[in-house]
Amino acid sequence: MTIILGLESSCDETAAALVTGDGQILAHKLATQEAEHQPFGGVVPEIAARAHVDALMPLVRAAFDEAGIGLNDVDAIAATAGPGLIGGVMVGLVTGKALAHAAGKPLVAVNHLEGHALSPRLADRTLQFPYLLLLVSGGHCQLLRVDGVGQYRRLATTIDDAVGEAFDKTAKLLGLGYPGGPRVEKAAREGNPKAVPLPRPLVGTADPHFSFAGLKSAVMRAQQTGNYRIEDIAASFQQAAVDCLIDRTRLALTHCPDVTALVVAGGVAANTSIRKALETLAGEHGLPFVAPPMWLCTDNGAMIAWAGAERYALGLTDAIDIPARPRWPLDPSAEKARGAGVKG
Ligand code: KG4
Ligand code: ZN
Repeated sequence: MTIILGLESSCDETAAALVTGDGQILAHKLATQEAEHQPFGGVVPEIAARAHVDALMPLVRAAFDEAGIGLNDVDAIAATAGPGLIGGVMVGLVTGKALAHAAGKPLVAVNHLEGHALSPRLADRTLQFPYLLLLVSGGHCQLLRVDGVGQYRRLATTIDDAVGEAFDKTAKLLGLGYPGGPRVEKAAREGNPKAVPLPRPLVGTADPHFSFAGLKSAVMRAQQTGNYRIEDIAASFQQAAVDCLIDRTRLALTHCPDVTALVVAGGVAANTSIRKALETLAGEHGLPFVAPPMWLCTDNGAMIAWAGAERYALGLTDAIDIPARPRWPLDPSAEKARGAGVKG
């Protein structure tokens, strides 16, 4: 059985994991940088890169200790090579290259988004291609048709903010702090989702693209009126985000009637309201709904090791001089969304 070491360092989590080719997680270790970034209300790239340097090798050692194996027992080393904060990506990728070189093992340069996109197949070993994937994270909000490893067709993307970014900015506006997503979700539990009238940008439009910038501005205006409880704004915001995600996903499903499942991945997939609404939508279409467990939704090393295992099984290894990439779309042929800003 093949064993892959996976390294992740593209944002504010440092992680190392050992995963087998048949999906057993031998060890997964993670260090969050929440405390380092908390005083700044968001991720500071330079602080992140330095923290990855400190955290990564101890996590690799701890993963090997837990699994009771050593570097010579792995078949390949997978490391996130982008997209993400370039300083952090370089820390993980260079570490992966050094370990691969020292042990004479192949390197697999993993697209972080492919890590998220294939993580549902680690969670549910019966999940087959093609599936419709809603990929929702701090940097991305996309609907992708997944036809195979490395085979992605982007059906939709955000024309401005990613949904995780909207959660994070809403948290900041409401004084809930960082990390935003889980704090908004917690506050929303105590609020009334109908209390604050908020827009549902792009809902009902012909392309399944997303937009969250207007929603964030509306949250700011609602907050400035001083008329609403924080919990009610949080609940109303979350409901608006859910409505947008569901409307767009429903439309995308009509574009690919042959998919085997509706799948969600990425940090925002840890949100219970979003998972419940997607499960209902899948049920309406007679499709199974697959969502990785919460810890596998937010950034982690197991998803990188698993994407590495899927690529390694197909002979997809990389040269040791492969560069780190701050931007790296899963579907490079996708056209820019109409009305889109800089993000894609
Ligand atoms: O995938 P991820 O861990 O990192 C990126 O690749 O971006 O996603 C992080 C994003 C952040 O925006 C965070 O606020 C959001 O996922 N998030 C959530 C929840 N947990 C994490 N958003 C909503 N509800 C949550 N429970
Ligand atoms: Zn991520």
